[in-house]
Amino acid sequence: MGKKMTYYDSIAQQYKKSKQLPFRLHIEAYTYFHLVGNLVGKSLLDLACGEGFYTRQFKLQGAARVIGVEISEKMIELARQEEAREPQDIEYILGDVLELDKIDSFDLVVASYLLNYAQTREQLLKMCQSIFVNLRPGGRFVTINNNDSQPPQSYLTTEKYGFIKSTDSPLIEGTPIQYTCTIPGSDQKFRFNNYYLSAATYEWAFQSVGFKEVRWQKPIVSPQGVEEFGQEFWQDFLNCVPIVGIECLK
Ligand SMILES: C[S@@+](CC[C@H](N)C(=O)[O-])C[C@H]1O[C@@H](n2cnc3c(N)ncnc32)[C@H](O)[C@@H]1O
Repeated sequence: MGKKMTYYDSIAQQYKKSKQLPFRLHIEAYTYFHLVGNLVGKSLLDLACGEGFYTRQFKLQGAARVIGVEISEKMIELARQEEAREPQDIEYILGDVLELDKIDSFDLVVASYLLNYAQTREQLLKMCQSIFVNLRPGGRFVTINNNDSQPPQSYLTTEKYGFIKSTDSPLIEGTPIQYTCTIPGSDQKFRFNNYYLSAATYEWAFQSVGFKEVRWQKPIVSPQGVEEFGQEFWQDFLNCVPIVGIECLK
């Protein structure tokens, strides 16, 4: 797979810093690991692995073999720097999931915030095919994704968590949804786009490639997050969830 300039090359450092926002740890990661389950001895393919934030944690949690695939050269450079600093035997591959063939049959394929980069149903289908072909029978796909079913009227309610979404036009298939994120401990902001595709289109793509079961998981707050910030603090997030977990069984 050839090298491509991608938008994440320009925001790689900022995105990495945004992983320190409390909602990342107490909701995003907590929900993600809840779905991923016990990793001991498992093989795992992390698609759109970014700078390896989760990839490293999967290995630390006991996965036997972990491979990360990422389209942004800058993001994967950060992941490889971390691997060189503290080797964990993780392989990072520069590549586009839209052009990905079979690497192996994995117990798990995971991908946080990949599918929301599909701009058309055809691209979503292609991503799902790349996922499906890399899973063993009985294997699972787990993802955290933009929640396309969140009503735009509630987009500003997440400001206190360090990000908001916005859109210039009504949500139809392919509409860009802009995320504006604050870097923790600063006034600096950075932006990136996701793309709207309906939940029905997601269901169609999962079923078309052959997944037997699909389960949507509402985000959950960690007990530590409740203890530290109080239940009330998280209520706006939980009332109109901006992100969602999905689990598919092959
Ligand atoms: C929001 S970041 C998430 C990174 C990482 N999964 C995490 O949660 O920290 C989305 C990542 O998806 C990558 N990406 C987008 N489209 C991709 C594609 N077609 N193939 C591979 N990576 C892609 C971007 O470069 C970016 O690093």
